[in-house]
Amino acid sequence: MLIDNHGRLINYLRLAITDRCNLRCFYCMPENGIKYMKKKDLLSFEEMFRLIRVFGDLGISKIRITGGEPFVRNGIISFLKEISELESIMEINITTNGTFTIDKISALEKMGIKSVNLSLDSLDSQRFFDITRRDLFDQVMMTYRKLVESKIRVKTNMVVMDGRNIEDIYPMIELTKYDDVSVRFIEEMPFNGTEGQGNATIWPAKKIMKYIEEKYSYQKILDPPASTSLNYKIPGYVGSFGIIPAYSRTFCGSCNRIRLTPQGTLRTCLYGEGQVNFRDLIRGSVTDDVLRNYLIKAIGNRANDGFEAEKSRSETFPASESMATIGG
Ligand code: GTP
Ligand code: 5AD
Ligand code: SF4
Repeated sequence: MLIDNHGRLINYLRLAITDRCNLRCFYCMPENGIKYMKKKDLLSFEEMFRLIRVFGDLGISKIRITGGEPFVRNGIISFLKEISELESIMEINITTNGTFTIDKISALEKMGIKSVNLSLDSLDSQRFFDITRRDLFDQVMMTYRKLVESKIRVKTNMVVMDGRNIEDIYPMIELTKYDDVSVRFIEEMPFNGTEGQGNATIWPAKKIMKYIEEKYSYQKILDPPASTSLNYKIPGYVGSFGIIPAYSRTFCGSCNRIRLTPQGTLRTCLYGEGQVNFRDLIRGSVTDDVLRNYLIKAIGNRANDGFEAEKSRSETFPASESMATIGG
């Protein structure tokens, strides 16, 4: 078991398999994109597989595949299949923008992918275009529908942004009337590939909740262990909704997650800096034991919370990082 220096059990790896993306979401990347890493600097699927196996021996049992957009990387389906066959890995989940996902859903279902988190920032095609800067709303909604009809559990992610999608909050909640889905409203974080700070201070979780209260009465439902979202339900509705205080960082006390960036850097907190680069270690031909020891050491030296991690950075906020290079 991996227990960090604050007594938290670490069993969850978020693996960003690429920094590339076909959308340009306002809160993630500038219009002209970010400087992508060279292909040779990315972890190969073989390297990722080895790390998952080695980390699995230490107690990592849950994996989330993120990016960038994971489905832009060729070979993802056979990679997923391979990790789904590892005994140590009990749960594989994916976060996707839903633009290339639809024809993969039956394969994902067959290999037992447990849940897909779909970025869905608006239910209006014009607002969707204004946020993502690409005209792919219809594809994403078709993916949404097919996912809801599949065996895969579905959560949606909407980053709440002043002047961009506030009018989508109520319609998003209405999605839960008939669909067994969890729609989540997220505070914007300052990881948008520019020096801009984002608008978490304008729309913090509490304000989102207040806005929802103006129209709905709701009930609290049980949050899964180490959940980032606080979850609620409208009585009589099939699905649920959640608020993710990603910027207020009130969930750090139960954080069970680590991240690997597309180039193999381990981050023990989203708000901190990289601890160690596993790609360089692997390419330096180290043994599995050495890899394990590096992980154990990093876990023994985690920040207490996102604020402490932020303070320890050499580049202070607003930094110009993008979620796509950190790994959502
Ligand atoms: P599961 O609990 O596995 O479903 O993960 P999740 O819901 O946290 O994952 P998802 O990839 O859908 O991310 C949803 C939002 O939570 C995104 O805006 C993330 O940036 C935010 N988030 C995810 N992990 C962290 C984290 O470690 N710290 C903070 N502050 N925010 C996070
Ligand atoms: N703030 C909050 N959430 C973000 N995401 C991407 N960039 C940001 C940001 N700056 C979200 C995406 C995706 C999830 C993994 O992270 O909406 O659903
Ligand atoms: Fe692409 Fe996701 Fe970033 Fe949007 S948030 S640009 S979908 S990686």
